[in-house]
Amino acid sequence: MVDDFRWPLGPPGAANFDLPSSARVYDFLLGGTSHGAVDRVMGRDLARAEPLVVSIVRENRSFLRRAVTFLAHAGIDQFLDLGSGIPTMGNTHEIARRVNPDARVAYVDIDPVAVSHGELLLGAAARGVTVTHADLRDPEKVLAAPAVTEVIDFARPVGVLMFSVLQHVSAADDPAAVVGGFLAHVVPGSALAVSHLTADDPRIDIDAICGPTRAYPSGRATPRSADELAALVEGLDLVEPGLVFAAQWRPEARRHRGPLAEPCCGHRAAVGFLPA
Ligand SMILES: C[S@@+](CC[C@H](N)C(=O)[O-])C[C@H]1O[C@@H](n2cnc3c(N)ncnc32)[C@H](O)[C@@H]1O
Repeated sequence: MVDDFRWPLGPPGAANFDLPSSARVYDFLLGGTSHGAVDRVMGRDLARAEPLVVSIVRENRSFLRRAVTFLAHAGIDQFLDLGSGIPTMGNTHEIARRVNPDARVAYVDIDPVAVSHGELLLGAAARGVTVTHADLRDPEKVLAAPAVTEVIDFARPVGVLMFSVLQHVSAADDPAAVVGGFLAHVVPGSALAVSHLTADDPRIDIDAICGPTRAYPSGRATPRSADELAALVEGLDLVEPGLVFAAQWRPEARRHRGPLAEPCCGHRAAVGFLPA
Protein backbone atom coordinates (compact mmCIF):
# COMPACT_ATOMS: atom_id res chain seq x y z
CA MET A 1 0.00 0.00 0.00
CA VAL A 2 1.31 3.45 -0.84
CA ASP A 3 1.10 5.19 2.47
CA ASP A 4 2.53 8.63 3.06
CA PHE A 5 4.93 8.53 0.14
CA ARG A 6 5.51 12.02 -1.29
CA TRP A 7 7.13 13.34 -4.44
CA PRO A 8 8.08 16.67 -2.95
CA LEU A 9 9.48 18.85 -5.70
CA GLY A 10 7.57 17.52 -8.67
CA PRO A 11 8.99 15.02 -11.15
CA PRO A 12 12.79 15.12 -11.00
CA GLY A 13 13.16 15.57 -14.74
CA ALA A 14 14.41 13.32 -17.45
CA ALA A 15 17.57 11.36 -16.83
CA ASN A 16 20.39 11.96 -19.29
CA PHE A 17 21.44 8.55 -20.59
CA ASP A 18 24.09 10.09 -22.88
CA LEU A 19 26.33 10.64 -19.88
CA PRO A 20 27.15 8.15 -17.10
CA SER A 21 25.92 9.07 -13.63
CA SER A 22 27.39 8.28 -10.24
CA ALA A 23 24.17 6.65 -9.01
CA ARG A 24 23.80 4.38 -12.06
CA VAL A 25 27.47 3.37 -12.35
CA TYR A 26 27.46 2.55 -8.63
CA ASP A 27 24.32 0.48 -9.16
CA PHE A 28 26.06 -1.40 -11.99
CA LEU A 29 29.13 -2.09 -9.83
CA LEU A 30 26.86 -3.39 -7.05
CA GLY A 31 25.20 -5.80 -9.48
CA GLY A 32 21.93 -3.86 -9.71
CA THR A 33 19.70 -3.42 -12.74
CA SER A 34 19.02 0.34 -12.84
CA HIS A 35 21.59 1.63 -15.31
CA GLY A 36 22.09 2.26 -19.02
CA ALA A 37 24.68 1.23 -21.61
CA VAL A 38 26.84 4.28 -20.97
CA ASP A 39 26.96 3.41 -17.25
CA ARG A 40 27.98 -0.19 -17.96
CA VAL A 41 30.79 1.02 -20.24
CA MET A 42 32.05 3.32 -17.50
CA GLY A 43 31.70 0.62 -14.82
CA ARG A 44 33.64 -1.91 -16.89
CA ASP A 45 36.33 0.68 -17.68
CA LEU A 46 36.68 1.44 -13.97
CA ALA A 47 36.92 -2.25 -13.08
CA ARG A 48 39.60 -2.77 -15.73
CA ALA A 49 41.58 0.25 -14.53
CA GLU A 50 41.28 -0.66 -10.81
CA PRO A 51 40.01 -4.21 -10.23
CA LEU A 52 39.40 -3.48 -6.53
CA VAL A 53 36.60 -1.06 -7.40
CA VAL A 54 33.92 -3.75 -6.98
CA SER A 55 35.24 -4.64 -3.50
CA ILE A 56 35.38 -0.96 -2.67
CA VAL A 57 31.69 -0.34 -3.43
CA ARG A 58 30.64 -3.54 -1.64
CA GLU A 59 32.67 -2.61 1.43
CA ASN A 60 30.95 0.76 1.44
CA ARG A 61 27.53 -0.83 1.26
CA SER A 62 28.46 -3.20 4.03
CA PHE A 63 29.64 -0.28 6.19
CA LEU A 64 26.27 1.41 5.55
CA ARG A 65 24.51 -1.67 6.92
CA ARG A 66 26.69 -1.88 10.04
CA ALA A 67 26.55 1.87 10.73
CA VAL A 68 22.75 2.10 10.41
CA THR A 69 22.31 -1.02 12.57
CA PHE A 70 24.65 0.47 15.18
CA LEU A 71 22.78 3.78 15.23
CA ALA A 72 19.39 2.09 15.44
CA HIS A 73 20.61 0.06 18.42
CA ALA A 74 21.91 3.31 19.92
CA GLY A 75 18.35 4.67 19.84
CA ILE A 76 18.38 6.73 16.65
CA ASP A 77 14.99 6.22 15.04
CA GLN A 78 15.01 8.82 12.26
CA PHE A 79 17.52 9.05 9.45
CA LEU A 80 18.31 11.65 6.80
CA ASP A 81 20.06 9.66 4.05
CA LEU A 82 21.84 12.18 1.80
CA GLY A 83 22.98 10.97 -1.64
CA SER A 84 21.06 7.79 -0.94
CA GLY A 85 21.51 6.33 -4.43
CA ILE A 86 19.35 3.91 -6.37
CA PRO A 87 17.44 1.68 -3.95
CA THR A 88 18.96 -1.76 -3.77
CA MET A 89 18.84 -4.75 -1.44
CA GLY A 90 19.19 -3.59 2.14
CA ASN A 91 18.08 0.03 2.04
CA THR A 92 18.46 2.22 5.09
CA HIS A 93 14.82 1.90 6.18
CA GLU A 94 14.93 -1.89 5.87
CA ILE A 95 18.11 -2.08 7.94
CA ALA A 96 16.89 0.34 10.62
CA ARG A 97 13.49 -1.36 10.84
CA ARG A 98 15.08 -4.71 11.60
CA VAL A 99 16.02 -3.05 14.90
CA ASN A 100 13.14 -0.61 15.27
CA PRO A 101 10.06 -1.21 13.09
CA ASP A 102 9.00 2.42 13.62
CA ALA A 103 12.20 3.96 12.24
CA ARG A 104 11.63 6.75 9.71
CA VAL A 105 13.86 7.62 6.77
CA ALA A 106 14.04 10.62 4.43
CA TYR A 107 16.05 9.71 1.35
CA VAL A 108 17.59 12.54 -0.69
CA ASP A 109 19.37 12.30 -4.02
CA ILE A 110 20.15 14.57 -6.96
CA ASP A 111 19.88 11.80 -9.56
CA PRO A 112 16.52 11.50 -11.36
CA VAL A 113 16.83 7.72 -11.72
CA ALA A 114 17.61 7.29 -8.01
CA VAL A 115 14.53 9.33 -7.14
CA SER A 116 12.13 7.68 -9.60
CA HIS A 117 13.30 4.20 -8.61
CA GLY A 118 12.85 5.30 -5.03
CA GLU A 119 9.24 6.03 -5.85
CA LEU A 120 8.76 2.65 -7.49
CA LEU A 121 10.57 0.52 -4.95
CA LEU A 122 9.77 2.44 -1.81
CA GLY A 123 6.19 3.24 -2.77
CA ALA A 124 5.15 0.03 -1.12
CA ALA A 125 7.07 0.83 2.07
CA ALA A 126 5.23 1.48 5.27
CA ARG A 127 4.53 4.91 6.69
CA GLY A 128 7.48 7.16 7.33
CA VAL A 129 9.70 6.75 4.26
CA THR A 130 10.01 9.58 1.72
CA VAL A 131 12.27 10.44 -1.20
CA THR A 132 13.32 13.98 -2.10
CA HIS A 133 14.97 15.15 -5.29
CA ALA A 134 17.47 17.72 -4.04
CA ASP A 135 21.09 18.83 -4.01
CA LEU A 136 22.78 18.30 -0.65
CA ARG A 137 25.10 21.23 -1.39
CA ASP A 138 22.14 23.38 -0.35
CA PRO A 139 21.44 22.12 3.19
CA GLU A 140 18.82 24.77 3.96
CA LYS A 141 16.74 23.75 0.98
CA VAL A 142 17.04 20.04 1.81
CA LEU A 143 16.14 20.65 5.45
CA ALA A 144 13.06 22.66 4.48
CA ALA A 145 11.79 20.15 1.88
CA PRO A 146 8.25 19.05 2.81
CA ALA A 147 9.02 15.34 2.46
CA VAL A 148 11.99 15.75 4.82
CA THR A 149 10.17 17.71 7.52
CA GLU A 150 7.25 15.33 7.26
CA VAL A 151 9.20 12.33 8.52
CA ILE A 152 12.04 13.95 10.46
CA ASP A 153 11.35 15.71 13.75
CA PHE A 154 14.35 18.00 14.13
CA ALA A 155 13.59 18.56 17.81
CA ARG A 156 14.79 14.97 18.38
CA PRO A 157 18.13 13.27 17.50
CA VAL A 158 18.63 12.45 13.84
CA GLY A 159 21.04 10.10 12.09
CA VAL A 160 22.58 12.13 9.27
CA LEU A 161 23.98 9.71 6.68
CA MET A 162 26.52 10.66 4.02
CA PHE A 163 27.72 7.41 2.48
CA SER A 164 30.11 7.79 -0.45
CA VAL A 165 28.65 11.11 -1.49
CA LEU A 166 30.90 13.90 -0.21
CA GLN A 167 33.55 13.12 -2.85
CA HIS A 168 30.98 14.61 -5.25
CA VAL A 169 31.25 17.91 -3.39
CA SER A 170 34.23 19.81 -4.76
CA ALA A 171 36.53 22.01 -2.69
CA ALA A 172 34.83 25.01 -4.31
CA ASP A 173 31.52 23.80 -2.91
CA ASP A 174 33.08 23.49 0.57
CA PRO A 175 32.25 20.01 1.95
CA ALA A 176 32.92 21.19 5.53
CA ALA A 177 30.25 23.87 5.13
CA VAL A 178 27.85 21.27 3.71
CA VAL A 179 28.40 18.92 6.68
CA GLY A 180 28.21 21.88 9.06
CA GLY A 181 24.97 23.07 7.47
CA PHE A 182 23.28 19.80 8.37
CA LEU A 183 24.86 19.39 11.80
CA ALA A 184 23.90 22.94 12.80
CA HIS A 185 20.27 21.96 12.30
CA VAL A 186 20.19 18.82 14.46
CA VAL A 187 20.08 18.53 18.25
CA PRO A 188 22.87 17.12 20.47
CA GLY A 189 22.69 13.33 20.52
CA SER A 190 22.25 13.31 16.76
CA ALA A 191 24.81 11.33 14.77
CA LEU A 192 26.74 11.57 11.53
CA ALA A 193 27.77 8.44 9.64
CA VAL A 194 30.09 9.15 6.75
CA SER A 195 32.17 7.26 4.21
CA HIS A 196 34.37 8.91 1.60
CA LEU A 197 36.76 7.83 -1.15
CA THR A 198 40.22 8.27 0.28
CA ALA A 199 43.15 9.84 -1.53
CA ASP A 200 46.01 8.25 0.38
CA ASP A 201 45.63 4.49 0.14
CA PRO A 202 48.72 3.12 -1.62
CA ARG A 203 46.92 -0.14 -2.39
CA ILE A 204 44.60 1.39 -4.94
CA ASP A 205 44.94 3.60 -7.98
CA ILE A 206 42.51 6.30 -6.88
CA ASP A 207 43.07 8.34 -10.04
CA ALA A 208 41.92 5.36 -12.10
CA ILE A 209 38.66 5.46 -10.14
CA CYS A 210 38.13 9.22 -9.93
CA GLY A 211 39.62 10.39 -13.26
CA PRO A 212 36.83 8.99 -15.48
CA THR A 213 34.16 10.50 -13.20
CA ARG A 214 34.88 13.84 -14.87
CA ALA A 215 32.23 12.61 -17.34
CA TYR A 216 29.53 12.74 -14.65
CA PRO A 217 27.16 15.71 -14.87
CA SER A 218 28.17 16.44 -11.25
CA GLY A 219 31.85 16.59 -12.23
CA ARG A 220 34.96 14.66 -11.19
CA ALA A 221 34.89 12.97 -7.80
CA THR A 222 37.38 14.40 -5.28
CA PRO A 223 39.07 11.80 -3.04
CA ARG A 224 40.32 13.21 0.27
CA SER A 225 43.19 12.35 2.59
CA ALA A 226 42.79 10.95 6.10
CA ASP A 227 43.63 14.41 7.49
CA GLU A 228 41.03 16.12 5.32
CA LEU A 229 38.41 13.58 6.37
CA ALA A 230 39.34 13.95 10.03
CA ALA A 231 38.70 17.70 9.64
CA LEU A 232 35.21 16.97 8.27
CA VAL A 233 34.22 15.06 11.42
CA GLU A 234 36.04 17.32 13.87
CA GLY A 235 33.95 18.21 16.93
CA LEU A 236 31.99 14.96 16.89
CA ASP A 237 32.41 12.26 19.54
CA LEU A 238 33.60 9.49 17.23
CA VAL A 239 32.67 5.99 18.33
CA GLU A 240 35.34 3.30 18.34
CA PRO A 241 37.31 2.60 16.20
CA GLY A 242 37.21 6.22 14.93
CA LEU A 243 38.03 7.12 11.34
CA VAL A 244 39.23 3.96 9.60
CA PHE A 245 38.91 2.10 6.31
CA ALA A 246 35.25 1.19 5.83
CA ALA A 247 35.81 -2.57 6.18
CA GLN A 248 37.64 -2.01 9.47
CA TRP A 249 34.72 -0.17 11.09
CA ARG A 250 33.28 -2.72 13.54
CA PRO A 251 33.54 -5.70 11.19
CA GLU A 252 31.19 -8.52 11.95
CA ALA A 253 32.64 -11.70 13.42
CA ARG A 254 33.96 -13.95 10.67
CA ARG A 255 32.70 -17.49 10.48
CA HIS A 256 36.11 -18.83 9.52
CA ARG A 257 39.56 -18.03 10.72
CA GLY A 258 42.02 -16.75 8.17
CA PRO A 259 42.81 -13.50 6.39
CA LEU A 260 40.07 -10.94 5.77
CA ALA A 261 38.33 -11.70 2.49
CA GLU A 262 37.97 -7.96 1.95
CA PRO A 263 40.98 -5.81 1.21
CA CYS A 264 39.95 -2.91 3.52
CA CYS A 265 40.54 -0.13 1.09
CA GLY A 266 39.03 2.71 -0.87
CA HIS A 267 36.68 4.45 1.55
CA ARG A 268 37.47 5.81 4.97
CA ALA A 269 34.52 5.84 7.32
CA ALA A 270 33.41 7.09 10.72
CA VAL A 271 30.37 7.42 12.96
CA GLY A 272 30.15 10.17 15.56
CA PHE A 273 27.65 11.83 17.87
CA LEU A 274 27.03 15.53 18.24
CA PRO A 275 28.02 16.43 21.81
CA ALA A 276 25.85 18.62 24.02
C1 LIG B 1 28.37 6.44 -4.91
S1 LIG B 1 26.65 6.71 -4.74
C2 LIG B 1 26.38 6.25 -3.05
C3 LIG B 1 24.97 5.80 -2.80
C4 LIG B 1 24.65 5.41 -1.35
N1 LIG B 1 24.84 6.54 -0.45
C5 LIG B 1 25.51 4.26 -0.88
O1 LIG B 1 26.50 4.52 -0.17
O2 LIG B 1 25.24 3.13 -1.21
C6 LIG B 1 26.63 8.51 -4.63
C7 LIG B 1 25.22 9.08 -4.66
O3 LIG B 1 25.27 10.47 -4.33
C8 LIG B 1 24.39 11.18 -5.18
N2 LIG B 1 24.83 12.58 -5.26
C9 LIG B 1 25.96 13.07 -5.83
N3 LIG B 1 26.01 14.40 -5.69
C10 LIG B 1 24.89 14.76 -4.99
C11 LIG B 1 24.37 15.99 -4.53
N4 LIG B 1 25.02 17.14 -4.76
N5 LIG B 1 23.19 16.00 -3.85
C12 LIG B 1 22.52 14.83 -3.62
N6 LIG B 1 22.96 13.63 -4.04
C13 LIG B 1 24.13 13.59 -4.71
C14 LIG B 1 24.51 10.45 -6.50
O4 LIG B 1 23.41 10.73 -7.36
C15 LIG B 1 24.57 9.00 -6.04
O5 LIG B 1 23.28 8.45 -5.94
